[in-house]
Amino acid sequence: MDARTINAHLRLGRRPSAEELKWFADGLASGAVTDAQAGAFAMAVCLQGLGEEGRVALTRAMRDSGEVLDWDLPGPVLDKHSTGGIGDCVSLLLAPALAACGAYVPMISGRGLGHTGGTLDKLEAIPGFRADVGTERLRKITEEVGCAIVAANADIAPADRRLYAIRDVSGTVESIDLITASILSKKLAAGLEGLVLDVKVGSGAFMKTMEEAEALARSLVSTAQGAGCMTTALITDMSQPLATAAGNALEVIEVMETLTGTSVNAALWDLTVALGGELLALGGLAADPVDGAGRIGRAMEGGQAAEIFGDMVAELGGPVDFVERWPDRLPSAPVVREVAADNEGFVATIDGEALGLAVVGLGGGRLKGGDKINPSVGLSEIAGIGEHVAPDMPLALVHAATEAEAEAAVAAVRAAFTIGEDVIADPPLIHERIA
Ligand code: URA
Repeated sequence: MDARTINAHLRLGRRPSAEELKWFADGLASGAVTDAQAGAFAMAVCLQGLGEEGRVALTRAMRDSGEVLDWDLPGPVLDKHSTGGIGDCVSLLLAPALAACGAYVPMISGRGLGHTGGTLDKLEAIPGFRADVGTERLRKITEEVGCAIVAANADIAPADRRLYAIRDVSGTVESIDLITASILSKKLAAGLEGLVLDVKVGSGAFMKTMEEAEALARSLVSTAQGAGCMTTALITDMSQPLATAAGNALEVIEVMETLTGTSVNAALWDLTVALGGELLALGGLAADPVDGAGRIGRAMEGGQAAEIFGDMVAELGGPVDFVERWPDRLPSAPVVREVAADNEGFVATIDGEALGLAVVGLGGGRLKGGDKINPSVGLSEIAGIGEHVAPDMPLALVHAATEAEAEAAVAAVRAAFTIGEDVIADPPLIHERIA
């Protein structure tokens, strides 16, 4: 087998066999396939597609290009993946709540991408927390605590790590086949028995239309199932931020308020129980998703999820008393400014991508790989769609490192909202379930 022939066949629309895709993925991991060959492969897949069988074969091959965890545990190994949004800190609630219900959650997560926040960046707002751990530590914390939210290391799906970097610089990220294989190869390498996908749709998501979100959700579900993992997906709303905060420490505050019952964010709660309900049903820990949702809710209400979250934080280098002392432990920004509405009315639309980019502009996200993040900056008290606002009722609070950065963010945030005269209903949180 050789890359030139595989690429030439792909270019002509001939689908590669599972053996050829395995050979290619192994070559990506070992270096036997060159950058030029990988770039040509990615472009050919973008243009010709792989078909369902090819997508499953590429996912399996990239998963198997590195270490694949296996487990011998008294409960099912489950996980969730979100396609990314604004104020989406569900993973921080869901992983410990699932663990409290008897599941094991080795959650290999990502950092911020474009305008969207990243789970690891949020957790690293907690002083001392380090997500870059090896596989042995991931295994030990998952076994002992029940959940571990960590970064992918070089041993997990190395073929994807290499192909993703090449796609990023060759204009070949936007392919449903490649996105599917990329996301799932990393997730399935954690040895999952069940997976739920939270596919976001709307102004703050990568998928702006239901059509795009449905296509991705169907591809992810059928491919994960084809690769042997029980999977469902929820298509969920991102026409407004999920939490009322966007920014790393500010989102951890909302997580802790919800986990400790200090001030429960309804959207965060509802989505966490819905996604968790799906997973408990897949893992046999609940009769169905509704029963599962009730169990997840009780694990949060009863404080067990908060306790497990605290244990995980301590194991990954954070303060041992984080759950008791989180208000003193999280960093805060020196400048806080209100974003006043131009006129009185009701919030009609929110440009979520613009809000996410305002957070990046404040230093809360990266403009390029390796940029350092300021964990304290971002937005809080973001008004939701349908909310009544007026010049003396702010659209949001900006948390910034400097006055100049605050001023730029205030203008960007104000421009992201449109205000109408009519009362508008809050959009539904969950648009569709795909199984
Ligand atoms: N996230 C991934 O991990 N891979 C993609 O291709 C896109 C988003």
